This record gives sequence, C-alpha cells and structure tokens, in this order.
Amino acid sequence: MFIAVKNLKKSYTTGKSKTEILKGVSLGLEKGQTGVILGPSGSGKSTLMNIIGGVDLADSGSIRVDGLELAALNDDQLTDYRRDSVGFIFQFYNLVPNLTVMENIEVVANISKAPLDMDTVLKAVGLETKKRNFPRELSGGEQQRVAIARAIVKNPKLLLCDEPTGALDYETSRSVLSLLQRINRDLGTTILMITHNTAIGDMANVVYKVRSGEIVETIRHEETTAAERIEW
Ligand SMILES: Nc1ncnc2c1ncn2[C@@H]1O[C@H](COP(=O)(O)OP(=O)(O)OP(=O)(O)O)[C@@H](O)[C@H]1O
Ligand SMILES: [Mg+2]
Repeated sequence: MFIAVKNLKKSYTTGKSKTEILKGVSLGLEKGQTGVILGPSGSGKSTLMNIIGGVDLADSGSIRVDGLELAALNDDQLTDYRRDSVGFIFQFYNLVPNLTVMENIEVVANISKAPLDMDTVLKAVGLETKKRNFPRELSGGEQQRVAIARAIVKNPKLLLCDEPTGALDYETSRSVLSLLQRINRDLGTTILMITHNTAIGDMANVVYKVRSGEIVETIRHEETTAAERIEW
C-alpha cells in the first residue's frame, strides 16, 4: 500500500474538555490510485488529511506513506516529507495576491528538488495565456487551476485535495476534476481528495465514508468514471 493508515487516533483539547476527533481510523490506498473521503461537516476529514500530509500530528497509530512512517519523523524530517512528497490543494486557493500566476507557481518550484518545467505545468492546467495575470484577474476556476499547478509543479508523489471544487460551479468543477484525473493518469500521482459530493466518488478507485471520526464504509471500484461523465 502506498498509503497505509492504521488505528489512527487524534483528539483536541479546548479548555478542559477533550474531544476525540479521529477514533481509530485505518485506510489503505495503492500507488497511482485515487481515493475519495466522503463525510459530513465536522466528521474529521480535514484532520485526517492534514495528518497524512504531515501538517498535523496523530496521538497514536501508524501512518505510512510510501514506506515512510510519519509518526516516527522529527520536525525536520516532516518538513522534508511535506516539501518533497506532498502537494496540497485547498478549497480556498491560498494564492499570493501580489504575485502573478507564474510567480505563484515559481514560489514552490524554487524549493523543489526536481520541479516540472513551467511551460508543461501551465499547459497542463490550461493557463498559458494567463501566466502574467494576478489572482484577482482570474475566475474562481482559473484560480483553483493555479493552486493545482502550484501543487503539481514539484511533481509530488501524493496530491492531497481538501474540497478542491467546493467553491466552484458545476462546469468548472468538472473541468478541475478532469484535470486532476489527467494528472493522475499522466504523472502517476496518487490522489486523495475530500468532498461532500457523493457523485465525485465514482471517479475514485476507493471511497472512504467517514462519520464522527470513523470510517464506516470503504468502497472499492473495479472501474472509475471519467470526470466529464459524472453528473450531480
Ligand atoms: N485545531 C483544532 N482545535 C480544536 N478542535 C479542532 C481543531 N481542528 C479541528 N477541530 C475539530 O475537529 C472536528 C473535525 O474537524 P475537521 O476540520 O477535520 O472536519 P471536516 O470533516 O473536515 O469538516 P468540513 O467538511 O466542515 O471541512 C471539528 O469538530 C473541529 O471543530
Ligand atoms: Mg474540512
């Protein structure tokens, strides 16, 4: 398994009360596959993804990504893991407003070991003609594509997407999903994506249904559906 999470537990303490957010989550995803995490608001999806992405720490359990046990890493090693292996895409694009499209992407390319070529990335996300524009001059879908470009320019082994289409309309969502599918196919990037939209589960090899900090169902698909053919 490329991602192997076993009995992951996480709680947060606010004031005197301790709340268990993840209550022993286990999941597996093979290299090159796409996994979708489905579940209601507050069920622990982002917490789980942040731990797999090395931006938050588990209380207990094992989190292996490509053979690396994240629970055993120190801060520096976790930073290396995040920088070298993980691309993150968020619901709200987190672009730097006073940098152009190209500069937003370069920020990440410059700290990457083996970045993809800028033109290749701009072409992949269809933003060749917008490379000198600023984020405020772009539509929501275009901004999300810059965020995707920024996440893939380092050619990460793992792409984590936290509701990548949450702020987008139907058509734009489908084109962003189709872009993610193309990245998965062409670069072999393993993708783990959070969504509220059950229809999006059809494009995944594996769907994990989360309820109140537990995976209540894991569905594996023999065949996946092209993003262009998903309807909701
Ligand atoms: N840093 C934190 N401190 C305290 N509680 C937290 C913290 N981060 C998350 N939580 C709590 O953990 C629970 C799960 O949060 P999480 O963000 O993982 O949910 P989610 O499934 O991603 O929800 P949504 O679909 O709304 O994004 C929530 O009740 C949230 O308030
Ligand atoms: Mg969330």
